[in-house]
Amino acid sequence: MKKIYIKTWGCQMNEYDSSMITTILQKTKKYSLTESAEKSDILILNTCSIREKAQEKVFHQLGRWKKIKNNNPSVIIAVGGCVATQEGKEIFKRANYVDIIFGTQTLHKLPQMISEVETSRKLSIDISFPKLEKFKYSLESKKKGYTANISIMEGCNKYCSFCIVPYTRGREISRPCDDILFEISILAKQGVREINLLGQNVNAYKGSTFNRKICYFSELIRLVAEIDGIDRIRFTTSNPREFTDDIIDVYKDTPKLVSFLHLPVQSGSNKILNLMKRSYTIEDYKSIVNKLIIARPNIQISSDFIVGFPGESEIDFQQTMLFIKNINFDMSFSFIYSKRPGTPASKMKDDVDLEEKKKRLYILQDRINIQTMLWSRKMFGTIQSILVEGVSDKNIMELYGRTENNRIVTFKGSPNTIGQFVNVKIKKVHTHSLKGELLQK
Ligand code: SAH
Ligand code: F3S
Repeated sequence: MKKIYIKTWGCQMNEYDSSMITTILQKTKKYSLTESAEKSDILILNTCSIREKAQEKVFHQLGRWKKIKNNNPSVIIAVGGCVATQEGKEIFKRANYVDIIFGTQTLHKLPQMISEVETSRKLSIDISFPKLEKFKYSLESKKKGYTANISIMEGCNKYCSFCIVPYTRGREISRPCDDILFEISILAKQGVREINLLGQNVNAYKGSTFNRKICYFSELIRLVAEIDGIDRIRFTTSNPREFTDDIIDVYKDTPKLVSFLHLPVQSGSNKILNLMKRSYTIEDYKSIVNKLIIARPNIQISSDFIVGFPGESEIDFQQTMLFIKNINFDMSFSFIYSKRPGTPASKMKDDVDLEEKKKRLYILQDRINIQTMLWSRKMFGTIQSILVEGVSDKNIMELYGRTENNRIVTFKGSPNTIGQFVNVKIKKVHTHSLKGELLQK
């Protein structure tokens, strides 16, 4: 058997794609996974291009792999994912020892592409966008652990002015509802208790059903909640646009849907949101949050932020800071604006000084950390439902699991509870992690 080594960068969608690549290659019975790049016959890099730094990392990594190939010229190097889709043959021009360039939608063609290279030793490239073809193979993947990500849709049609995703993942397309439900029911039989529905804009999900109707996102969540064994449902990422009232209503009647929502706002300034082409205002966002609080009073919201977008003045930034306090966001992701080639924002003047961008990022992250800590502190003394995921790496006498609001809790308990939900009283609070005591049922 030949050995494959996969390195994955980027979002959960890429992680999901890499697990499909593993399944597809293992199914051929010709390949097995290895943890060591040096011992591998096929090196696969699944790339991310969301920010410039992520993209540059690709060529640094390829440079390291070139040395492995110099020692063993039969090694095959494959580059896939968003950078491969965006750059195509340019990758080969910069790194001519690369053998395969595959796209975000053509990963299922890898076995065939590898065979081609093995016989011809010529570059094999396919960065086309065949619709949903790759998902034919997702069913067969066996999941480790008790939580699983399920991709429910691909691509994005929103074309926010800063974002490269619509160009690298293609147009928005939803997987058929029955395929998703079938896949989740198989996972539930394998012991999975928590599902994370994945996509760039899951709330825009519109999947076909077996009787040719359209299943909307709200309906999909309710159907997933009916699957025996699935007791917790999350989703990432949603978008304030199309976050319709029917989705908010699910929070009223589906307790399996967690009281924690990642809803990226990006900026607290309407001027910037308009330049970003986000198609909502902060008032729209606030109105969604108000409705969510009525539906689920204990809901916690996290977000993504971009600082230093072209034209962002000190006043715009202060509006973002005010909005962060106003919504009381919990743990969030924040980034310095990165100019991406081919996007509309790349034609705007990148006019905020880098030092200023760094300062704004620091101030923003500092505030978010305070708020995360305050949310965590509120949990002191409360009883939390934890899905026990395993034995703690740091202390083998302890177990760990996650709360609904995505905090890791460690506590003493029997490994027999791994894979089950248990009640834990929170006894110690750190910003991102907690310590607790297992309560008897
Ligand atoms: N669909 C999600 C975003 C997915 S991209 C949404 O609607 O918000 C993930 C995050 O990367 C974005 O939320 C944004 O904060 C960040 N991001 C995307 N493009 C970026 C860029 N050019 N520079 C900096 N951050 C960016
Ligand atoms: Fe990107 Fe906007 Fe879509 S941030 S993923 S273009 S919603």
